[in-house]
Amino acid sequence: MEKLQQLYEGKAKKVFATENPDLLIVSYKDDATAFNGEKKGTIIGKGVVNNRVTNHLMQYLEANGIPTHFVEELNDRETVVKRVQIVPLEVIVRNIAAGSLAKRLGLEEGTPMKRTVLEYCYKDDALGDPMVNEYHILAMEYATEEELKLIADYSLRINELLGKYFAELGVRLIDFKLEFGRTSDGTIVLADEISPDTCRFWDVATGMKLDKDRFRRDLGGVEDAYNEIMKRVFSK
Ligand code: TMP
Ligand code: ASP
Repeated sequence: MEKLQQLYEGKAKKVFATENPDLLIVSYKDDATAFNGEKKGTIIGKGVVNNRVTNHLMQYLEANGIPTHFVEELNDRETVVKRVQIVPLEVIVRNIAAGSLAKRLGLEEGTPMKRTVLEYCYKDDALGDPMVNEYHILAMEYATEEELKLIADYSLRINELLGKYFAELGVRLIDFKLEFGRTSDGTIVLADEISPDTCRFWDVATGMKLDKDRFRRDLGGVEDAYNEIMKRVFSK
């Protein structure tokens, strides 16, 4: 399958048309941003890690009943995916308090939540992706009630599946962000990526952060952390 014209360039990926109107090619970049694009940098090899890790995890989720946009990995950085209309929500799933939740509620990072927490943010860079609740989502018609129910159910199921998967690799799944899309027939599928850019991963043995917080917080060892996650994900 060949890339035709570029349709879109985001902060971490480019998207190309193909000869099939229902399929796109995603190309992962090494560019890294944080804080709504205010901080910029490069993480060498990130595109390869995020492409390969995302595809491996999406295939695992598909095999366990979660529909995804994944079609076929073309090479280290490029993947064929179903064309979807993205539901304009970032779904954040949290098991352990960290990042913005720890700050907002005055919790120490690492505090376990007594129940899984789901949060939604409206995807709009100009507004800084504001947090919204179910009422906003329905009133603004970002998703229908039926879609939102499915998105929440899939997100909690994905949390169970990924939590188990990473525990076996000696990694604690602290929190992560998901995006969903509608295919041409309106089916809701998991889209975007699942990678160290979009998850918090802490090593069980040492507590070391193995994700994009190393870039966000200038902790060093960013590339090593991304490679360590890829190595562990492909060990099983
Ligand atoms: P937060 O604690 O900064 O709200 O982040 C929660 C999770 O969502 C964390 O795993 C990182 C991920 N995330 C993204 O994937 N994209 C974003 O733009 C933000 C802010 C967070
Ligand atoms: N990549 C996101 C941005 O630049 C934020 C993040 O992942 O921290 O807005």
